[in-house]
Amino acid sequence: MTGSESVPPASASVDTSRPHPARVYDWWLGGKDNYPVDEELARRILAADATAVRGARANRRFMHRAVRALAEAGIRQFLDIGTGIPTEPNLHQVAQAVAPEARVVYADNDPIVLRHAEALLHGSAEGSTDYVHADVRDPDLILRLAGESLDFGRPVALSLVALTHYLGDAADGDDVHGLLKRYTDVLAPGSFLVLSQVTPDLNPEAVGKAAELFGRSGTPFHPRSLTEFARFFDGLELLGPGVIPVTGWRPDPEDVAAQAEGIVPVYAGVARKP
Ligand SMILES: C[S@@+](CC[C@H](N)C(=O)[O-])C[C@H]1O[C@@H](n2cnc3c(N)ncnc32)[C@H](O)[C@@H]1O
Repeated sequence: MTGSESVPPASASVDTSRPHPARVYDWWLGGKDNYPVDEELARRILAADATAVRGARANRRFMHRAVRALAEAGIRQFLDIGTGIPTEPNLHQVAQAVAPEARVVYADNDPIVLRHAEALLHGSAEGSTDYVHADVRDPDLILRLAGESLDFGRPVALSLVALTHYLGDAADGDDVHGLLKRYTDVLAPGSFLVLSQVTPDLNPEAVGKAAELFGRSGTPFHPRSLTEFARFFDGLELLGPGVIPVTGWRPDPEDVAAQAEGIVPVYAGVARKP
């Protein structure tokens, strides 16, 4: 784990009385690191949106494809914010399978992810993996601690995969677009931004119901339209095929099969900083 300030306060213990996004997602992925409250919300959302499990799996596979593509393109530094509970293969395993010397820093604000940080830190001998316990809304802290392992003078792949829908707009006090710019502003030319996020465009009724269920459970949820999502990449050069439903981003055969099961309401995109 990197940096003393990444150690959470005692109050950051795991709260099993209400559902948490990382654990709900873990249930959809078939993981075991969730509690009855998480399973209950995951099942209720699944009842409202039958694509929730397929969407979570498709989203995870997008992360694998994007990271592999960037590692194959020569990227050797990765900053992954909103990492989630470890689910193999994790990002560092994908990156270091291509380039064992790749350096990876993970960040998440959920104490349960912190508990599993050890599992995230077993990287290749040549590369490095580190974990920062912090909120994405604190870019100064995350960038400073990540800077202990990453050289921001050289290209970095910054990923916030399935994270931005937990962040509000300026009117909600979050200003997620301004926040992302704080991160991309410090990246060197040749860096990349990797994003995915739930959208109401593709299944409005089900996604609206899911957002309502998340909100009522204490986790505000912000699905975004194609235009709002594409704005995250302003000033960057989108890689082909652009901003697209997640299963369509450079699909592997497994994703082609998943596409046949129907669309999932998640957009994805990868862009390069010129
Ligand atoms: C749906 S999971 C996505 C996990 C992983 N990125 C993936 O796509 O497989 C969202 C993650 O974002 C984290 N998260 C939510 N709000 C956050 C915040 N404000 N700061 C940091 N992490 C946050 C949650 O704890 C959870 O681990």
